[in-house]
Amino acid sequence: MLTDNHGRKINYLRLAVTDRCNLRCFYCMPEDGLNWLSRKELMSHDEMLRACDVLVKMGIEKIRITGGEPFVRKDIMPLLTAISNLNGLQELSLTTNGVLTAPYVPELKKIGVRSVNLSLDTLDANRFFTITRRDEFANVMAALDALLTHDIEVKINAVVMDGKNTQDILPLVAMTKDMPVSVRFIEEMPFNGDGHVYAGLQWDYVRILDEIKSKYPQIQKLPDPLNSTAYNYHIPGHHGNIGIIAAYSRTFCGTCNRIRITPQGELKTCLYDDGVLNIRDMMRGGAGDHELRAVVLNAIGHRAKDGWEAEHKRVIHPGIHESMATIGG
Ligand code: 5AD
Ligand code: SF4
Repeated sequence: MLTDNHGRKINYLRLAVTDRCNLRCFYCMPEDGLNWLSRKELMSHDEMLRACDVLVKMGIEKIRITGGEPFVRKDIMPLLTAISNLNGLQELSLTTNGVLTAPYVPELKKIGVRSVNLSLDTLDANRFFTITRRDEFANVMAALDALLTHDIEVKINAVVMDGKNTQDILPLVAMTKDMPVSVRFIEEMPFNGDGHVYAGLQWDYVRILDEIKSKYPQIQKLPDPLNSTAYNYHIPGHHGNIGIIAAYSRTFCGTCNRIRITPQGELKTCLYDDGVLNIRDMMRGGAGDHELRAVVLNAIGHRAKDGWEAEHKRVIHPGIHESMATIGG
C-alpha cells in the first residue's frame, strides 16, 4: 500500500496518453492548438505500460486514461488492452470527448472498462461549436448512446463557464431524469493553455448548486464515496445523479488518493504542481524498476498538503499557463 506524507492512501493513477485533441475547447487550449509534443517526446506504448506495471505493483489499483483526447492516439486500443491485463489492477477507466469514441465502445466493454467520463458542456449544438470550435456534437451524442447501450457507466463532465454555458446547467441536470448518467459540473480552472486570461472563478460550487436548486428545490445530498472529488446529489424520481466538482476551490484535497503522469512522462503528485520528476527520462536513461520505485516513493513522501500549497510551490511555471491537455484532466 502507498501512503503519502499526510497519511493519504494513494491508489489511483491518471495517465495522459497524448496532449493532442480533435476539439479546441476554449477553456483548455487556444484555437490553433498547442505546441504539440513530437512522437519522440511522448511516452511510448512500452514506456506507459512499464510505468503502469511498476505502479500497480506498488499499490495503484485504479488507472484512468486521459489526454488530450485518448482516441487520437493510434495505438490506444492495444495500450488499453495491455493495461487492462495488468495483474492487480482493479479498475480501468477513461475520459474522452466522445468525438471518435462510439466505434470503440464494444471493444471497451470487452476489455472490462466499466465506466467512462464523457466531456460535454452543453446540449445545444451551436453552443457546442462555440465552446469546442468544432462541429462534432452529433458524434459525441452517438458516443453517449453507444456507451449506454453497452451498459457502461457514464459520467458527463461539464465545465461551468460564466457567460458561455450557464444556461445549460438545468438542461444537463434534466438529462438525469430518464438517463442513468451522472452529470458532474466542474468549476472552471485556469488551465487553458494561455488561450485567454483566466478571469477568476465566477461560478463556484455553491453558485452551481443554487442554480440547480432554483428548479429542483427537492434535490437531495447523497453521501460522498471516499475519495470522491464531487459533491453528490440526487433528484427524487430521477434515474441519474448530479455531481459538483470544486476543481478550483479545491475542497477535496484532504482525501486525495491520486497521482498523474503527463504525456511526456512527468509525474505529478498534484494537479496544481509543476511535475516532480520525469519517469520517461529515467526509463530512457536506463533506470531499473527498483530505481523507479524509489523515486516514486520519495515523491509520494513529499506531497503538498493541498492544491493551494502545490500551486504556491510551482517554480518551473509559476502562474498557471498549462493546458489541461498537457496535465491529463
Ligand atoms: N477547467 C475545468 N475543467 C477543465 N477540463 C479541461 N480544461 C478545464 C478547465 N480549464 C476538463 C474537461 C474534461 C476533464 C478531463 O477536464 O472538460 O472533462
Ligand atoms: Fe480536447 Fe478535452 Fe481540451 Fe476539450 S477539454 S480541447 S476535449 S482535451
